[in-house]
Amino acid sequence: MNKTPEKSQIKNLPIGIFDSGVGGLTVYRALHNRLPNEHFIYLGDTARVPYGTKSLATVERYAIENSQFLASHGIKMLVVACNTASALALPKIREKIGLDVVGVIGPGARKAVAVTSPNSKIAVIATEATVQSDAYRVSIKEASETAEVIQTACPLFVSLAEENWAKEPETFSIAKKYLDKIIEFQPEALVLGCTHYPILREVIQQTVGARVKLIDSGEACAEEVAQLLDWKELANPHKVAGERRLCDDLDHFYVTDAAERFARVAERFLGAKPAKLEAVELDELKKD
Ligand code: DGL
Repeated sequence: MNKTPEKSQIKNLPIGIFDSGVGGLTVYRALHNRLPNEHFIYLGDTARVPYGTKSLATVERYAIENSQFLASHGIKMLVVACNTASALALPKIREKIGLDVVGVIGPGARKAVAVTSPNSKIAVIATEATVQSDAYRVSIKEASETAEVIQTACPLFVSLAEENWAKEPETFSIAKKYLDKIIEFQPEALVLGCTHYPILREVIQQTVGARVKLIDSGEACAEEVAQLLDWKELANPHKVAGERRLCDDLDHFYVTDAAERFARVAERFLGAKPAKLEAVELDELKKD
């Protein structure tokens, strides 16, 4: 008996998304808005967050375990929503998972190059690990050899976003301190290279000035996922009846710890709590 599912069956499968925690919900939102007929399985590795301060070997191990967990739940494509995991672990994930894998770094970098002029100056803000990996610079240079790139880590932005301190004066002064060098550099575009930064979009835009184009790597990723689904003829052909809502019961959320906190922050970020949210044991993550 042939066990390989038919293409028509694959089309109906969900898209898997993983992040180190709650931040990847900004990428989920972008995917959900761009692809309303798709269903998603989201894994937030809340037991082991943050990834942005961890080593390459650790992030790779976590990323592979997360990917295997999602693959074992039957998905047609994997989205690595976490910028740090995309920067450090994408090659290893692709090696281990027999699925199409889309990260956020390449799409964010390509989008920044697409919306700026030749020889443009592009700034990137991200976690320490993402900046150290140089993944954004490499991807931007692949898209445009002549682009000039500056990168800055803004680690406190993660906590400020989760605290919902999007308009506090303290957030503005921290943003000013982090972004001073970028303001001096006068970039044409600034890539929001961390899942949490779109939550602070207004503070960041006001700090760098209205003429700097902000690039949301999650939105750029959603665009490339849509193109890949079309190209591979894997888009779900069934139109969902009625209006889709973020976190509705067609999407399934898993966390590795603190489900209640995840639901609370999800409500802050998305205006809705997941209808289906489950905590999973780390041991289950280890299963092949
Ligand atoms: N999700 C991470 C990223 O986009 C930020 C949080 C963390 O450090 O784990 O890089």
